[in-house]
Amino acid sequence: MRKSTGLLIGPVLALLLVLVALAVPWRASKSAPAATPRPPSVTPASTPPPVVGAEGIGDPYFPRAGNGGYDVTGYDIGVRYDPPTDRLEGHTTITATATASLSRFDLDLRLPASAVTVDGRPAVIHQDGGELQVTPAVPVKSGAPMTVRVDYAGVPSSVAGGPGSHSPWVRTAAGAIAVGEPDIAAWWYPSNDHPSDKATFTITAVVPAGLQVISNGALLGGPEAAGPGLQQWRWQETEPMATYLAFMAIGHYDIVRRDTRFGLYLAAYDRALDPAVAAAARASVEQTPQIIEFLSGIFGPYPFRQLGGVVPDASLGFALEDQTRPVYSSTFFGDGQDVTVVVHELAHQWFGDSVSVSHWSDIWLNEGFATYAEWLYSERNGGPSAQQMAAQSYARHPAGDDFWRISPGAPGAAGMLDNAVYARGAMALQALRAAVGDQNFFAALRAWATERAGGNGSVQDFLALVKHVSGKNVDAIAQSWLLSPARPAAGPG
Ligand code: TRP
Ligand code: ZN
Repeated sequence: MRKSTGLLIGPVLALLLVLVALAVPWRASKSAPAATPRPPSVTPASTPPPVVGAEGIGDPYFPRAGNGGYDVTGYDIGVRYDPPTDRLEGHTTITATATASLSRFDLDLRLPASAVTVDGRPAVIHQDGGELQVTPAVPVKSGAPMTVRVDYAGVPSSVAGGPGSHSPWVRTAAGAIAVGEPDIAAWWYPSNDHPSDKATFTITAVVPAGLQVISNGALLGGPEAAGPGLQQWRWQETEPMATYLAFMAIGHYDIVRRDTRFGLYLAAYDRALDPAVAAAARASVEQTPQIIEFLSGIFGPYPFRQLGGVVPDASLGFALEDQTRPVYSSTFFGDGQDVTVVVHELAHQWFGDSVSVSHWSDIWLNEGFATYAEWLYSERNGGPSAQQMAAQSYARHPAGDDFWRISPGAPGAAGMLDNAVYARGAMALQALRAAVGDQNFFAALRAWATERAGGNGSVQDFLALVKHVSGKNVDAIAQSWLLSPARPAAGPG
């Protein structure tokens, strides 16, 4: 469900095909003795020759992320996973709509594919890096729905990313966890791997009996018998979701469930966690419903129908805002409870998950906003105000500090998840709040979350909204707080 238009390569090829078609004399088809042969020159203009879908969707930071020529509506991911060998076998079906007539298109997948069908007919495939090229038996028609089934298998932990990068696939004592940003999808399922093409998901995982599988959204079934010594778990996310937010945690988990007014709360704690860490993790993550209540009072209705969290026994070193159910590194809870990280990941459910970046260069809309939510939580729960938090952070980084070299509104691929995007990004929001006043500021945050729920947006879109809501020109603030590699002369607000 992509809102932007996919890019296509091959207009030259297309033109060539037209010229060839015009030049080559018509030949009767082998199958049918055509009674009234029609010269190709009268091919209706409404059926342009098929083109090759681009290998990237047009992201400025990751040129090969996503693909051109189609728009995914749904993923039906099926995997079988064997923890001792780390072998994953997948059978995933993608439903999509072609946005052009396609003779070939790409999917993003790093595990070896063995077979692909398009609308039930075997396709020719070729894999190169993270790209899986698919040549269907017959070209896909523009505007037509297509069903692509991919069979694949491999060892995810052995797959490296780009040059020098590591696998985001993490093995744990009892299983594994698929969690990463911006990369993880290609380690376990084929996709149009970019947040601008959101889709619904069904995720089925078959694992050795006795293990649990936690994923996004609703638990449709599990554990269910799935062959000798095997059980399957079926999950479903019906709200549009970005590919990097689909996750799967396999292991021995204690599962906590209860109904809340936001939907089913389901959290999972790895049984291998140190007891003190497990207790601190529970004391933090179990506050999820109250924190969602708090955040929905500021940002508007919670955008999803399930909620929860997962704490694997893994020192990931980060948390990730996986849709409906964030994943938290056990290290957050090593010194007791940590509510701040829970506030941060839950704020992402509005900013990042429900409203996703149009391009990765828009990452401030995720990290600056989630960090600002931490400050709002402090402000409204007897801690320092957001203004005080912003002033402290500004004071902590003197002019000339490397911190100021990254512009949160255009951090570059390498700076995308730099601390500046978080802290300076939150300062930028404080500066905007001070400039337009509380009423306009919170109205703009709420409008952003509600008007674009389930979709995407860019930094420029957000600034335009602030301008529209407040009637104030915020260009100078955006320039100094979001777009300049230098410390603004005065603190935020
Ligand atoms: N988006 C995550 C957060 O701030 C942090 C993050 C950055 C991350 N890079 C990651 C998480 C890679 C997992 C993997 O909440
Ligand atoms: Zn974050």
